[in-house]
Amino acid sequence: MKGSAFYENHFDYDAMSRQAANIIAAQVILKPNCVLGLATGGTPVGTYKELVAKYAAGELDFSQVKTVNLDEYVGLDETSDQSYIYFMRSNLFDHVNIDQNFTNVPRGIVDDADAECQRYEELIASYGGIDLQLLGLGPNGHIGFNEPDDHFPVQTHKVTLTDATIQANKRFFEKEEDVPRYAYTMGIGTIMKAKKILMVVNGKGKAEIVKRAFFGPVTPEVPASILQLHPDFTLVADEDALSLI
Ligand code: F6R
Repeated sequence: MKGSAFYENHFDYDAMSRQAANIIAAQVILKPNCVLGLATGGTPVGTYKELVAKYAAGELDFSQVKTVNLDEYVGLDETSDQSYIYFMRSNLFDHVNIDQNFTNVPRGIVDDADAECQRYEELIASYGGIDLQLLGLGPNGHIGFNEPDDHFPVQTHKVTLTDATIQANKRFFEKEEDVPRYAYTMGIGTIMKAKKILMVVNGKGKAEIVKRAFFGPVTPEVPASILQLHPDFTLVADEDALSLI
């Protein structure tokens, strides 16, 4: 773990989002044809808004950027407004000059799950790997949809979502029964191979898991704890999420 950023004085959600967007913008400026690994969920929405604002202000050019997202629900595609491809288009891709042929999210509707996972791994490898991976943190310590387990899954794979994740994510759906029970996710190995990793976390509800993940033992029971071993990991959090450390 290197260069971890802990901000404590009135560091709120907007400040977290600006800081994260600045780090991503720096990556795009330094390497205009970089590969960005992207995340969905509530936390990065502000980060994407900031990036869109920087683009609108003429400060960023996404024309050569390629992206790979962490995960997608099994059974959903771009026609569903709960799918992660839909989220990415509405929060970022449709608002910047990125070439959407080079934006990638695992395909939620495929005949062969194993083939899709293999295709995704090969795609990332064919891009030369991920330069900067953005992550959120699940309340149970998951990253991507790598749920607490007795081992760290290495490659992109299909997962059964835990009840904790279904409970956490039902806020985005009309009713709990609508939350898909399975997802495709990059593996922990896929994530750890990224050259840089940036995590955004906010809110009191994440304070306990931030403490366990970054100040406790490295264990697959808290998947994010593996990030302690990454050589270039940055945590950008608001003060509520850091309130127990
Ligand atoms: C999303 C993802 C998840 C979320 C995590 C936190 O692509 O991979 O790991 O980052 O569930 O979600 P929020 O930000 O909604 O609290």
